[in-house]
Amino acid sequence: MAAPMPSPAPPVRCHALLPCAGSGSRAGTALPKQYQPIAGQPMVRHTLAAFAQVKRIAQVWVVVSPGDDTLRTSNAAFSIAACGGVTRAESVFNGLNHLLANGAAPSDWVLVHDAARCLVTPAQIDALIDACLPDGVGGLLALPLSDTLKHAGADGRVDATIDREGKWLAQTPQMFRIGALRDAYAAHAASAFAGITDEAIAMEAAGHAPLLVRGSAQNFKVTYPEDFALAEAILNSRNA
Ligand code: CTP
Ligand code: MG
Repeated sequence: MAAPMPSPAPPVRCHALLPCAGSGSRAGTALPKQYQPIAGQPMVRHTLAAFAQVKRIAQVWVVVSPGDDTLRTSNAAFSIAACGGVTRAESVFNGLNHLLANGAAPSDWVLVHDAARCLVTPAQIDALIDACLPDGVGGLLALPLSDTLKHAGADGRVDATIDREGKWLAQTPQMFRIGALRDAYAAHAASAFAGITDEAIAMEAAGHAPLLVRGSAQNFKVTYPEDFALAEAILNSRNA
């Protein structure tokens, strides 16, 4: 009798995790900025629309504050994890634990993406997945610095010009194995994730070297009041 075939390894999946539990204090909007309408839709809906078009993403999770029902609708194409924390890092850490408790495998990939980067495109997300899937560590979208970099002294005057060669601005999505990223974050839980402003920092601190994948200047994070008009103009031009 033929030996039974070994069962095939489970497919490695990609999940998306969108931290969406901030207050948008710098944006000066009445609503938390991720829900502020831009081009006819709450900001995060544009972000969700981009991820919905990426076929290789098995599931999209949105991390919102406990009790935030803004996105709750039946038959949504995404899932809600109402476990947002006090900081972005805490929201991401709680979201990763939620994913692992809800069927994601530690070896699956996760793309963490700011809800407030509502101009990300399916093509940029796909480019990150293409670059990271064959990689041992994972990586992030980022942009080489194009302006000259100044350091400010205490009096608001330039006290140094910093060589911009080799310097990149980190964006999101940032794509890593869920288990490795959760463990990298867990190492900073006791210090309330001080200094952990993105996933790559946590991975770097754990001894990994994330891959830099060139993103786009249009993938900026809507942060200040003037960013809304620019985001709206870009979204409208894409829909024209
Ligand atoms: N975020 C989160 N939980 C927090 C803080 C931020 O999920 N406690 C999310 C935001 O909703 C946003 C992303 O992390 O999608 C990036 O954060 P940022 O742009 O700093 O948003 P806010 O923290 O809301 O804005 P601000 O810092 O101006 O208050
Ligand atoms: Mg913030």
